[in-house]
Amino acid sequence: MLIKIPSVSLARESEVTPEATYLSRRRFLGAMGGLASLSLVPGRALAERYAGVEAAQAPTWFDKKLTSARWQSMVPGDEALTPFKDATRYNNFYEFGPNKGDPARHAAQFKAEPWTVTIDGEVVKPGQFSLEEFCLPHQLEERIYRLRCVEAWSMVIPWLGFPLSDLLKRAEPTAQAKYVRFETLVDPQRMVGQRSGFSLIDWPYIEGLRLDEAMHPLTLMAVGMYGRVLPAQNGAPLRLVVPWKYGFKSIKSIVRISLTSAQPKTTWESLAPNEYGFYANVNPEVDHPRWSQAQERRLPSSLFSPNIIPTRMFNGYDEVAGLYAGLDLRKNY
Ligand code: MTE
Repeated sequence: MLIKIPSVSLARESEVTPEATYLSRRRFLGAMGGLASLSLVPGRALAERYAGVEAAQAPTWFDKKLTSARWQSMVPGDEALTPFKDATRYNNFYEFGPNKGDPARHAAQFKAEPWTVTIDGEVVKPGQFSLEEFCLPHQLEERIYRLRCVEAWSMVIPWLGFPLSDLLKRAEPTAQAKYVRFETLVDPQRMVGQRSGFSLIDWPYIEGLRLDEAMHPLTLMAVGMYGRVLPAQNGAPLRLVVPWKYGFKSIKSIVRISLTSAQPKTTWESLAPNEYGFYANVNPEVDHPRWSQAQERRLPSSLFSPNIIPTRMFNGYDEVAGLYAGLDLRKNY
């Protein structure tokens, strides 16, 4: 992005030490044996697992949905969860400012209620929904995914949400629908970054997927993380999570989802097309023009413990490779 990577992590050394809850969670995951395991965890066990997570007051519908959530339906092997503090204090959310600490600082007062989501374009059933109506038909599930930013840092985050495909099926895409376009809220009163005369972004923040990418079972609409409602700085109340793509595809605070026949012009592609493409698949073999993508800094990291690990093709989600058969991923970066 058009941003600087700090040479020193913002995480403190003390945060690197796994907590007791985290250790017991690791044992639990080990016993579950990796990917695609399913479990129903009672609310109290869950609260213990994510002890110390400070969350905003959740709406009643969210708390109700939690009781029937499927826990750990997707887990990426035996990788440590990023501590909640890092995931919520080291953010990219330009609507709240350009620096990593800005979103946590400036989004603290942001209220994500009431919230309306519009679904329109090439669908048989367009509509405008309150967030509750929008989420009501779906069972929440926890997906623990790697998040790899194009800036070469990464995290492992337990999201709560539902597959985007379930939502799209309800809207019934027409035969003309080939892409899905997503739009973030524009509200300069509440989003300080949108008031800034220095911002390079032409609001709203826009993202897009090919329809088959949007329908892939890994693609998630998230309404929570760490067993709680999404914090504002992470994209409350509704964000996209596409774990095999660079983090900028995972658009936050969505108000509109449009099915289109033409490929949407996305925010970063419009700003710097030679640096950020429409596809943005995590790819260690295609460098950013200004830095290598072969490795990443897994947070938390520090000067003395940088925690550099190799980046994997599709961020390790090999099951999506078939979506790109025959496509030159150097050209379609
Ligand atoms: N969505 C909006 N609306 N605005 C943004 O600035 N930043 C993107 C993405 N979604 C961004 C956004 C980028 S660059 C990344 S890496 C991820 O959000 C970061 O998500 P996180 O802050 O929850 O880690």
